[in-house]
Amino acid sequence: MADTAAPKPVTVLDLVAMKQRGERIVVLTCYDALFARLLDAVGVDVLLVGDSVNQVLAGEETTLSATLEQMIYHTRIVRRGTARALVVCDLPFLTYQISPADAIRNAGRVLQETGCHAVKLEGGAPVAATVRALVDVGIPVMGHLGLTPQSVHALGGYRVQGRDERTAERLKAEAKALEEAGAFAIVLELIPAPLASQITKALTIPTIGIGAGPACDGQVLALPDMLGLNDRFSAKFVKHYAALAEDVREAVRLYAAEVREGRYPGPEHSFPK
Ligand code: KIV
Repeated sequence: MADTAAPKPVTVLDLVAMKQRGERIVVLTCYDALFARLLDAVGVDVLLVGDSVNQVLAGEETTLSATLEQMIYHTRIVRRGTARALVVCDLPFLTYQISPADAIRNAGRVLQETGCHAVKLEGGAPVAATVRALVDVGIPVMGHLGLTPQSVHALGGYRVQGRDERTAERLKAEAKALEEAGAFAIVLELIPAPLASQITKALTIPTIGIGAGPACDGQVLALPDMLGLNDRFSAKFVKHYAALAEDVREAVRLYAAEVREGRYPGPEHSFPK
């Protein structure tokens, strides 16, 4: 008889245990129920509803204009398509930086209205007290260091962080501060591989790398990037596992031609009576 038992959901504690066992953590961004079902079924451990949705799906230049309502909508539909994976929602710009109380109110809304399991926020020392406040009320927090896209203007663009000694030391201290504040994992974005390796070794919580080399405890990519669906974006760290943009263009060209030539729908797609 087929095993119909529901899969055991991944928890934040499982991710820490995976690091201890040396098992790599698989993370992808996800923005809707359709893809959530596909990713969940093949065993992706964490679905991150990134505020990159504002760029990738909504066509904005940066993540800065993403709203709480937008993130709640996308996270709710991702959660609907998920049975096993841990679902993490990015807190958008200005929903957690103003005060810890504001952050608790907004992150609490996210958990209540979407059913997701955790939130992610960007930054180090300046947000450590907020991470502590969220964790203290029972909201699991994933940190995010290195290239933090909500600070893109302050950082002077999307560029590798921590190449100089002073920034590298600051990033190491901030990773430690996030761990001490109670974060269950930290995304390391666009930092040199040796620095990511040092941070990973210094922490008991897992690091999830994007453009941070192979030593991180897990890896994350934006789903449309790795599927080759978002062919307006390219970066050294993105590997294309498919070429879906070209597949879509080809399929739609074929459909358009068949409609124009009267070849679709055929008898097999029509109802005789
Ligand atoms: O918004 C996002 O998709 C992210 C990942 C790239 C880490 O923060």
